Amino acid sequence: MTELSDLTLAEAKARIKMLSMEIRANDEAYYTKDAPLISDAEYDVLRKDLIALETAFPKLIDKNSPTQKVGGKPSSKFSKVKHGVPMLSLDNVFTDEELNDFIAKVKKYLNINKDIEFTAEPKIDGLSAGLLYENGQLVRGATRGDGRMGEDITANVRTIENIPHQLSGSGWPERLEVRGEVYIGHDDFIAMNKSQLEAGQAEYKNPRNAAAGSLRQIDANVTALRPLKFFAYTWGEISAPFAATQMDAVEKFAAWGFDVNPLMAMFNSADGLLSLYHKIETQRAELGYDIDGVVYKVNDLALQNRLGFVSRAPRWATAHKFPAEKAITTLEAIDVQVGRTGALTPVARLTPINVGGVLVSNATLHNEDEINRLKLRVGDKVEIQRAGDVIPQVLRVVDADISGRGDTFELPQTCPICAAPATRGIDDKGKVDVVRRCTNGLSCPAQAVESLIHFVSRRAFDIDGMGGKQIEAFYERGLVKEPADIFTLEARNGDIKLETWEGWGETSASNLFLAINERREIEFSRVLYALGLRHIGHGNAELLAKHFISWAKMSETAIAAQPQVGEAWAELMSIDGVGGAAAGSLTTFFSSREHREMIERLLAKITIIDAERPSMDSPVAGKTIVFTGKLEKFSRDEAKSRAQSLGAKVSGSVSAKTDILVAGPGAGSKLKKATELGVKTLTEDEWLDLIN
Ligand code: IVH
Repeated sequence: MTELSDLTLAEAKARIKMLSMEIRANDEAYYTKDAPLISDAEYDVLRKDLIALETAFPKLIDKNSPTQKVGGKPSSKFSKVKHGVPMLSLDNVFTDEELNDFIAKVKKYLNINKDIEFTAEPKIDGLSAGLLYENGQLVRGATRGDGRMGEDITANVRTIENIPHQLSGSGWPERLEVRGEVYIGHDDFIAMNKSQLEAGQAEYKNPRNAAAGSLRQIDANVTALRPLKFFAYTWGEISAPFAATQMDAVEKFAAWGFDVNPLMAMFNSADGLLSLYHKIETQRAELGYDIDGVVYKVNDLALQNRLGFVSRAPRWATAHKFPAEKAITTLEAIDVQVGRTGALTPVARLTPINVGGVLVSNATLHNEDEINRLKLRVGDKVEIQRAGDVIPQVLRVVDADISGRGDTFELPQTCPICAAPATRGIDDKGKVDVVRRCTNGLSCPAQAVESLIHFVSRRAFDIDGMGGKQIEAFYERGLVKEPADIFTLEARNGDIKLETWEGWGETSASNLFLAINERREIEFSRVLYALGLRHIGHGNAELLAKHFISWAKMSETAIAAQPQVGEAWAELMSIDGVGGAAAGSLTTFFSSREHREMIERLLAKITIIDAERPSMDSPVAGKTIVFTGKLEKFSRDEAKSRAQSLGAKVSGSVSAKTDILVAGPGAGSKLKKATELGVKTLTEDEWLDLIN
């Protein structure tokens, strides 16, 4: 065999590709089909060869390489579960100041001036799971998935020792979904890795990965052998309220037989919360399980309820993350990637290094200003940091004083992919954009491909079996240039003959067409998110869908809103949570004929499902409401959210279309106009009577 060091980069790349494919095929056979094709020893040789190659050519390590994952099973093997109540994530604070801001925002929203009680508890670094109990019996377990749909892991959670199959005590609601974190403790993790090594298998990178690999085993008998544990800390669906405070709820969980975190405590000031934060931080290494911060929650559930949610996270809770972990390594190269919006992102390729249990070989360099600040030269020793799941960052050059090196790296002023000029525009606030962008739009292959990859991604069209590699291959052959093309692939397959391509076969080709066809009927918010417009992430896409219900209504409004004044524009701006940047991005997109035609071609192939109408039994459903003057019981934001959750539209200005004006003290011109137009006018109390 040739020495590894004799291989050229291209040869190494080809071998890595072959080995990865072989290992993946064997993984699939072993894990999913329970039908290994080769012996364990032969399999180990493949892995060892791949690891040796990747060690010799660290630049060629792909994040999807089989060496970068342990035990990962295809998620499609579990059946899907729709969460009765979405499983949300948490916003973060990193500093004392941000914590103070969080508390101030909560009080402002509630229009409360006195102190509010908050609980504080460790943020467990595991995987969240929801456990559904009916009449005290465990009937279902689910992963978080995308928050709306999770995977059914009932058989797996039943094997976790400290999860009760039957609740103890009494007083639980008939239907109760207890949520919490599945994790593996430090001692168990060390023991587990020891036996992995003894069995000649790869070690798990960290307890979280080990827990994920263990929980999502197709064969629950394997899960049963793993030392998983569960902490209960919140709940989803409930048939009846069972507690008045967060503390109360968690105490009940304990009484019903769950392990709850013993460090949870309650405070009514930022100082109190911070004292616990620092106490937990110093105890971190001795706790026996991984945590990555402290979670603060408003204790009073009635207040939680009033605070509600903003897109994916509650307003009543936040996570205070521990400071990032740092390390020093060598900068081997700087690549410039071109993203979906044309942004040129410099990426640092690093000598792989272990940072807090995770192997880091790439770090983002963000943008041109950051590059200029860092003054990087290839070969520099750099300090990097990793904060939780956040992409690692380069903090500084450590050996900047060494002389005789070449020039510092500068971001190119042309697109590295299509050579079109790359410029820095003016952002929404009139400042020079920090991001340099390729000006070639979808004519730039990188932007086109990245847009298509986004289009099929999990929160967008979520097409199984269609990822970056496949999109690239279809694009390179000119077969998929825009979204609509995905939906004509099957009809063109007589010419394409996908099943004959390298890496494809009859089954995988027909599975792909099946997966595409499954998405011909698709939710409004997914389609909007899939377009990848700037400032329209899935949160805003959902808000817009909820507001407009139908795609046609949204596109009509977006087109009419083009001048960015007038009624249609005001309607966009009135949607709670959707700001001017998102509204502007939407109107700009729809103002282009090219874009509209592209959408039309897509709409000819798919059906967009209307968003769910808010429940119509509220007295204000479908009504247009305007708030003016000073509100005394609520902040303006809360009043607006309440009205919208009851199906009303909230507008900022009074017109003939206004149904109700809610006027507090100090109301002026809007009240006058409403009176002139004969619009019904209510005081804050009358409004409350109406909606309660
Ligand atoms: S409360 C509606 N409490 O952190 C908010 N989450 O970053 C419900 N997590 O998805 C979450 N420890 O998996 C909560 N003590 C704790 C937690 C915790 C860990 C996880 C959870 C959540 C993620 C959000």
